[in-house]
Amino acid sequence: MSDYVVREALPHDLAGARSVMLDTFYTDLGYGYLPEHHDDVIDPGRAYLCHPRQRLWVARHDDQVVATTAIRARGPRIPPHPAWLADRYPDHSTAQLFRVYVRAEHRRRGLATELVRRAIDFARGTTVFERLYLHTDASVPGALDFWKSLGVIVHDDRAPERRFQTVHLEIPLR
Ligand SMILES: CC(C)(COP(=O)(O)OP(=O)(O)OC[C@H]1O[C@@H](n2cnc3c(N)ncnc32)[C@H](O)[C@@H]1OP(=O)(O)O)[C@@H](O)C(=O)NCCC(=O)NCCS
Repeated sequence: MSDYVVREALPHDLAGARSVMLDTFYTDLGYGYLPEHHDDVIDPGRAYLCHPRQRLWVARHDDQVVATTAIRARGPRIPPHPAWLADRYPDHSTAQLFRVYVRAEHRRRGLATELVRRAIDFARGTTVFERLYLHTDASVPGALDFWKSLGVIVHDDRAPERRFQTVHLEIPLR
């Protein structure tokens, strides 16, 4: 970890962060850029630097951004997710983790854990947030194993016929 600088994103981190996110969409997640879901990636400055309750963290190595993690101030979208999840995680009091992506050659060195730790600290220190929620596609190798090291599953929505093998989790804040 001493080879890495982990910090809240600065304006000159945004191009590198976008590159990590887009590469992850195509290489790991397999669905590429989806305009209806990825507006924050196109304008991360607006999404994360100009919003009082949203943040982006990056890890840099050799002057390159190699990992990202973001918090957005909103719950899950209904649809596609079940309505009861929106009741449990309303927009006004929910922090949601997004874009927890680490370039393949930098994985298993604790980077995602450290980035998410920063995000948890931020959510804990912001009085409006009562819950920290996320969902993940369990068909991506390592994704669910990683999240189970930090949070608890609140809804397992996997089914063979589904395009995304979605699992919803919460990381305790208090
Ligand atoms: C999932 C991901 C973010 C993990 O990043 P990382 O920096 O390698 O994670 P860490 O090194 O902090 O791992 C912490 C723990 O999570 C678990 N874990 C992480 N990756 C794992 C894997 N591929 N298989 C099994 N367990 C894994 C382990 O318990 C690990 O601890 P250990 O290395 O001491 O055994 C990374 O693999 C990634 O970017 N994947 C593609 C994008 C993605 O699916 N992101 C998450 C969903 S939004």
